[in-house]
Formats: sequence, C-alpha cells, structure tokens
Amino acid sequence: MDVVVLGATGVTGRRVCAYLAERAAATGATWGAAGRDPARVESVLAEAGVSTPEVLAADLTDSAALGALAARARVVLNLAGPYTRHGRSVIDACVTGGAHYADLSGEIPFVRSVTLEADVPARQAGVKVVQVCGFEALPPDLLVLLAAETARERHGEHLVAADVRVSIDALPGLPRPSDGISGGTFQSLAESAGVDDAAVLTDPAALIADGPAAEAVRRTSPILVRPRRAPDGAVIAPMSPAAFINPAVIHRTGLLTATARGELYAPLRYREGVALGGHPATLPLRLGVAGMLSGTQGLIAGIARAPASVRRRVSAGLTRVLPSSGFGPAADRLEAWRWSMRVDATTAQGQDVRAEVHAEGHPGYLATARMLGEAGLLMARPGDTPDAAGCLTPAAALGTGAAERMAAARLFFSVG
Ligand SMILES: NC(=O)c1ccc[n+]([C@@H]2O[C@H](COP(=O)([O-])OP(=O)(O)OC[C@H]3O[C@@H](n4cnc5c(N)ncnc54)[C@H](OP(=O)(O)O)[C@@H]3O)[C@@H](O)[C@H]2O)c1
Repeated sequence: MDVVVLGATGVTGRRVCAYLAERAAATGATWGAAGRDPARVESVLAEAGVSTPEVLAADLTDSAALGALAARARVVLNLAGPYTRHGRSVIDACVTGGAHYADLSGEIPFVRSVTLEADVPARQAGVKVVQVCGFEALPPDLLVLLAAETARERHGEHLVAADVRVSIDALPGLPRPSDGISGGTFQSLAESAGVDDAAVLTDPAALIADGPAAEAVRRTSPILVRPRRAPDGAVIAPMSPAAFINPAVIHRTGLLTATARGELYAPLRYREGVALGGHPATLPLRLGVAGMLSGTQGLIAGIARAPASVRRRVSAGLTRVLPSSGFGPAADRLEAWRWSMRVDATTAQGQDVRAEVHAEGHPGYLATARMLGEAGLLMARPGDTPDAAGCLTPAAALGTGAAERMAAARLFFSVG
C-alpha cells in the first residue's frame, strides 16, 4: 500500500484521508486509514463523506500492530498527536519496517530528540523521517529553499538573509472559538511544556547536532518575538500560533543541503511573522494586536525556561483546562480561508530574490492536511523526491520539485 494515515479519526487525520481519496483517481495511489478502533475509523470517515479502501487496526501502544502497519506501507502519515507522548513508537516501527514517515509535530523538544537519536538508523535503513510537515513548517521551508536555489542559479551566491511573512484573509462573518486551534494542538502544546528539555524550544539551532554550526546559527539568527514594521508599512507580528517552530527547521534544511553539496553551512539571518496590513488609520490597533501576540510568545518562551517543577504543574494544568481531542474547526468552516506567504531574501552581494505561495483552505487543518497528503504521495513514488534518507526537514525530504506538485494541494508556489 502506498500511504497509510494513522490517527484517521482526528480533526486533521480525516481531512488527510479525504485528500488521498480525492487524489487516488488521478495518481493511482493506494491508501488506507488506521486507528485504534477500526469501526470508529469507518464511521468517522463515512460521516465525513470519505470512502475508505482499507481500514487497519493500530493502537499506538501496540508495537506489533505498528510493526505490521509499517511493513505494509511505503509511507506512514502519523496524525496521532501529541507526538511527545505517542510518536516515538511509530517512528521506530517505520525505521525498522522500511516505511517513510511524516507527521505534523511542532513539539520541537520531541523533534530534537528524534533527530539526534533516529537520524543514523533511518539513514542506514534508507527511510525518510519527516516531522513538522504541515503549515509549520513546509511552506516557509520550501520557500526559503526555492529562494536559495534561485540565488545560486541566477547569481552564483548563497543567501545571507530571508524574511518570511504570512498574510491570512479572515473568514467572512463572526469568528468562533473553534476556528483557530484544535484540541489536539492545544494538548500538544500542553504536553511540550512539561518535558525535561523544554528550554530547547526557543533555540533556533535545536535541530542541529554539530556544535560550531549550532553556535553560528544562534549568533546569526536568534528568534525574536517583538513586533516590527516592514519597509512597506505593514506591522509584522510574531508567527502564530507559535514563533519557535519554523526557524529550527529552516536552519536544519540549510545544514542538510549545504552538507549534501559538501559545504559548511553559513547560516542566514531568518525572520518571520504575520503581516498585519491595512489603512494607516488602523496602525494603533494593528500595533496593539501585534503587541498581544508578542506577549503570548514571550509567555511561551518564559514557561519553556522555567524550572521543571513549575513547568510540570503548568503542563498538568493546561492539559486539564485546554480543549482536547475532537475540538476544532467545523468542516464547513475550512474551505473559505485564503492565505499567502512570501520570502524576501538577499545574497551577500545584495541581490534580492523573492518566492511566494498563495493557498486555499484553513492553514492549520485543511491546507495542512492536503500538503501532508501530497508529501505522502510524493514520497511513495521512488524518484519523485531527492535520494536522501534520515531525519529530514520537509524541504530537504521533498526537494523544490515538490513546489509544482503542491498545486494539487491548492498551494501555488512561484519565484519572482
Ligand atoms: N504544525 C501544524 O501545522 C499542525 C496542524 C494541525 C495539527 N497539528 C498536530 O497534529 C496532531 C493531531 O491534531 P488533531 O487536532 O488532528 O488531533 P485530534 O483530533 O486530537 O486527533 C488525534 C488522533 O490520535 C488518535 N490517537 C490518540 N491516541 C491513540 C492511540 N493510543 N492509538 C491510536 N490512535 C490514537 C486519535 O484516535 P481516537 O479517535 O481513537 O481517539 C485521533 O485519531 C497534533 O499533535 C497537532 O498539534 C499540527
């Protein structure tokens, strides 16, 4: 079977299944849906209007079932978060069983531990392990790699700076509390706060094992969460919902691609944020919103650096009070979203390169599901992605060739 979706009953998992069902006819790909309760998988997907060619039983605590799943699949897409709690057994089963693996983890301490421990075994097994493969961090990761490759081709230079900004069109009508973040994401944030090495969350070099390279990244490109003004007047707020995920991924891509060329990674200065554009008269309001978003990210950074006993209490409290599995945007609130992201990059000699993506669908729960589904389809076909294995980033795993294929997922990339 080409692709198996584990966690198919979840808010995001069911959308990934819907995408694979839609793409099966055009691609000829075979796919299946997996969960701990096969009857529930069937009924949830039937309710979502998705007909499933095959349902597989797999509980995350059952290593034999995970092994059997991985042995049958070319690619496992894991939608069963929080990954800090459940993810490792699935990754290990995939490395052992020879299946490529992708997930949506934004839990950077967990991604770091997998990167440090599973990279060598995954490389030896010829398996791609690709975490953070949704809105965080596939679009900015691919944009920066597109800009870097364009700078090489056009100017024979590498990038020294990249500024990414996202613009999101609000949904028409009044927002609902469930429009933004799902219970699964809330619980993943809560889980991350309690882990031993939570402080690595704010480290832009969290996914780089090499000491000197990591130091160079920290010096050149610290993660800053204060609002700033762009040259065109837009207010740039820190990336939401989390400012501490993409930078670590982008720097790992830089390291992996430099290493593949036999070069040392010279880190670029990476900045990102949400662009709050609008009429000049709304400036105070936009600065106020940006200030609130900065305060939230500052609080998250503060919790990550707090003593373990404090963090564990915060984590337990958040787990209790935050929404849990099942909470999330309603199906009829997913389609109308439109968003775009662009990177403005500069080379050492001052040449500018721009790349952008215009996308349809809720960034976190529809566009994310589609891009992960397309990533799975790409990895299932030998030759459709670079010949690389190990703990990879989305851009390093898929290559810039994936940008065109992402049009099927309603992500339209272009280079200016
Ligand atoms: N970075 C991004 O761009 C992005 C975007 C969206 C989501 N995410 C992440 O993706 C993850 C999923 O989010 P979500 O909102 O879709 O979560 P969700 O609705 O809570 O779904 C969780 C899934 O995990 C399954 N699961 C839990 N425990 C299991 C077990 N022991 N055995 C088998 N399956 C089990 C659940 O199955 P049952 O139905 O049987 O409970 C369900 O299918 C979260 O970690 C979230 O943070 C990231």
